Amino acid sequence: MRNIVLLISGGGSNMAAVVAAAQREDWPATQGARIAGVISNRADAGGLAVARQAGLETATIDHKNFTEREAFDSALAQQIAQWDVGADLPALILLAGFMRIVSPAFVALHQGRLLNIHPSLLPAFPGLHTHQRAIDAGCRFAGATVHEVTAELDHGPILGQAVVPVLPGDSAASLAARVLSQEHLLYPRAVKAFLRRSIG
Ligand code: GRF
Repeated sequence: MRNIVLLISGGGSNMAAVVAAAQREDWPATQGARIAGVISNRADAGGLAVARQAGLETATIDHKNFTEREAFDSALAQQIAQWDVGADLPALILLAGFMRIVSPAFVALHQGRLLNIHPSLLPAFPGLHTHQRAIDAGCRFAGATVHEVTAELDHGPILGQAVVPVLPGDSAASLAARVLSQEHLLYPRAVKAFLRRSIG
């Protein structure tokens, strides 16, 4: 059995989509993986209540309590390791609306089992404000990307993408909503494909 740990900072709708798919499709039986818990760097993240509602373990590790990024990341890694004791395979970590940039040391420790969902069609528009930038650039299409996390922000190997049209009169908010609904389908799909590949 493999553990999955999700990291969030806000509403956690992508986390909720993965958790719902895992429960609906019985991932322990069908994918050999279970959701071990959800960690937030903000105690007021709405997603924490959603995770508890789903019967999951949760933890808050507030980045504001750490002066160094590495110290914060090491506390994250300790919590993940604590939930992963006794597992057959090392945990798969999913960044789901997690708004902290993880350190190269954290990436190295979890190399090849650290995924992120980003609201653009990478390599276009890494970083923030992706929807407004797509509109300002006159893009006809936008979307989301699930990728492996590397030390370079929003640049790792792409595991899956979803595409949506940019419609006349779109605002960043209306485009974000259209992309987010696709993210909720894309992330569970990409995670299942990753799990299948990792058990070969
Ligand atoms: C999503 O668009 C995600 O791609 C981005 O933050 C947005 C909110 O995510 N990183 P969530 O609802 O907190 O999962």
